[in-house]
Amino acid sequence: MQPSEPLLRGSGEKPTSLGLLANPLDFISEDHLRERQVCAMIDRLATADALNRQEVTTVLRFLNEELNVHLRDEAEDLFPLLARRCTAEDAIEGVIDRIRADQDEAMRLLPEVRAMLAGCLDRGGDLSARERGVLSRFAGHVRRHLVAENAILLPIARVRLTRADLRILSKHMRSRRGLPDFPETTDAE
Ligand SMILES: [Fe+2]
Repeated sequence: MQPSEPLLRGSGEKPTSLGLLANPLDFISEDHLRERQVCAMIDRLATADALNRQEVTTVLRFLNEELNVHLRDEAEDLFPLLARRCTAEDAIEGVIDRIRADQDEAMRLLPEVRAMLAGCLDRGGDLSARERGVLSRFAGHVRRHLVAENAILLPIARVRLTRADLRILSKHMRSRRGLPDFPETTDAE
């Protein structure tokens, strides 16, 4: 999606609008809506009688183009910023550890999920029972990470991160997507 396109918020039916990158926590929150939609799609693929090729294509595109970047936004920027800013009473270390465990498990399953879905498209066949089980487990880990982040990490981040933190987060998220930094802002805020 191009930055000039209108912002689509709250549906998660398309990749998150790059126009939201000026507010990186809003972008991550919107990415979670998108993940929730795709998890529902993966659950449908895991239980449907007949393969929906359009949904397989959408899921594959999401896995290849969106999920990895989202997980890097969090692992490389959001979590370290939170660890730096949060106090002991926030008790977020255990939360981050659990989220990382779900993310790691999702990433471990990712190559197999990708290969299964691409294989279905190539051979035009259905998923086996074992493959359906892998899909369900994968969706479960992705969904658990976003639930914990929405309920605990993002509300704390909105309170604890400074404007300078948000600038850095936004800058790195733009760079990760091949976009230049916003020229009109400064780090002096
Ligand atoms: Fe996330």
